[in-house]
Amino acid sequence: MAWEVLRAVDERGAYANLLLPSMLAGSGLSTRDRGFVTELAYGALRAQGTLDGMLDTATSRPVAGIDPPLRDALRLGAYQLLRTRVPARAAVATTVDLVRATSGERPVRFANAVLRRVAARVSETGGDLAQLLDAPPFATDPIGHLTAVCTHPRWIVEAVAEALDGDLDETRAALVANDIRPSTHLVARPGRITRDDLLAECVEAGLDAHPGPWSPYAVRLDGGDPGRLPSVASGAAAVQDEGSQLVALALAATPTVGPDRGLTVDLCAGPGGKAALLAGLLAGGPDGAGLLALEPRMTRAALVARSLEGMAGAWVARADGRAAPLAPASVDRVLVDVPCTGLGALRRRPEARWRRTPEDVAALVPLQRALLVAAADLVRPGGVVAYATCSPHPAETSEVVRQVAGQRPELSLLDATRVLTDVSGSDVSGGDAPGSGVTGAGNGTDSRAETGAETGVGVGTGLGLGDGPFGQLWPHRHGTDAMFVALLRVGPR
Ligand SMILES: C[S@@+](CC[C@H](N)C(=O)[O-])C[C@H]1O[C@@H](n2cnc3c(N)ncnc32)[C@H](O)[C@@H]1O
Repeated sequence: MAWEVLRAVDERGAYANLLLPSMLAGSGLSTRDRGFVTELAYGALRAQGTLDGMLDTATSRPVAGIDPPLRDALRLGAYQLLRTRVPARAAVATTVDLVRATSGERPVRFANAVLRRVAARVSETGGDLAQLLDAPPFATDPIGHLTAVCTHPRWIVEAVAEALDGDLDETRAALVANDIRPSTHLVARPGRITRDDLLAECVEAGLDAHPGPWSPYAVRLDGGDPGRLPSVASGAAAVQDEGSQLVALALAATPTVGPDRGLTVDLCAGPGGKAALLAGLLAGGPDGAGLLALEPRMTRAALVARSLEGMAGAWVARADGRAAPLAPASVDRVLVDVPCTGLGALRRRPEARWRRTPEDVAALVPLQRALLVAAADLVRPGGVVAYATCSPHPAETSEVVRQVAGQRPELSLLDATRVLTDVSGSDVSGGDAPGSGVTGAGNGTDSRAETGAETGVGVGTGLGLGDGPFGQLWPHRHGTDAMFVALLRVGPR
């Protein structure tokens, strides 16, 4: 089954995180076997660059030229030898059986020889990746070293290092976090269910749930299927990364200046997670407060409509954000959560790091800029724009914002770190525990400390976002996706 997932990803661009759960659902496999299949499929996809490097050292044939079905089987074999406790002899034998079943008798000897060589190299080096892949020393070529041992393409390592101001130890921690299975985050949608009630529902369903450390609406689940919760089925709660929740909270909490009609636009709304949270948050605002969610793609607009179902004062329209059906300077707030590379969610999308390219960034940046300009044009003087990405890549985060703000004197940057700190109830100096007095049916442990424990990096009790003005969240620091948010005030034109 793991091999079938790798083939689907390679052959038809499938997303492993969507495909595998549906395959497992009808498989009849035991929980243990499901766990093993998941580890093999996700692990081999994430580690693809490393596995190919190992295979390269064991064959004179370039790995890129090996027949793809055979190559995927070899990758699974190499993954078992490198990262699992499966005895080497069994890993080689089962992989050779897989090759025989899927590619016939002809490549069997080749596969057997390659895997035996890989097994010998793993045993000689004790699985040390730097030795296995002949990585350059960290001292002389830190980016090259991290590229090899952290199993990411070099251009992503460079972008992460740049986003972290060149701190290479932290860059390593950020890359390592991309290989750690994330917990599932739920949002209790305001006005529809409280976090306490959602926690109680989770506990009743036997799920290991605790309050999210940052968003007063978040619940984190360590395993289990949230799809069977009644409130998730009804849309009162939903799966939503806690970082995404903070972005919506930050925009809703940023005050406008001057008379506020309470009109907010979500310019890139599909599939509607932030729109639904925003609509719930804004419902408590001025009379007649409303949210208009725009999305150009039909299927995604339908998802937005579903996520807003039954919410008063929320509408969806199909439109390109660069040509929104609204007068200039007519709205109070705009969220522009632009299409991006998704490099901030690599831990959820095992194959994405190898699928994305620097050319994707170059192609997305002009659209991101144009959408931010369009967002600024829609907002009245005194209103606010929130620019968000699920990526830490500076080219699509701070550089887009600085460039547009530099050309538009009416735009000024607000301190997003302060707003995020306020909405999360956190104290950057490491003071009080999560605010809002929200408690849940959790086990009483400090989930902020767990966030650090999950990733091996110490965190204080605050978000610790630095000096601003931009807010950049990280899996290794916050246990969230690497969401970026900038807040801009529109002044007189
Ligand atoms: C990062 S996603 C938004 C996620 C969403 N805010 C949420 O929280 O569920 C970006 C969305 O922008 C949409 N998009 C792409 N091009 C667009 C354009 N020209 N105008 C508006 N939206 C666009 C994509 O279809 C996609 O649904």
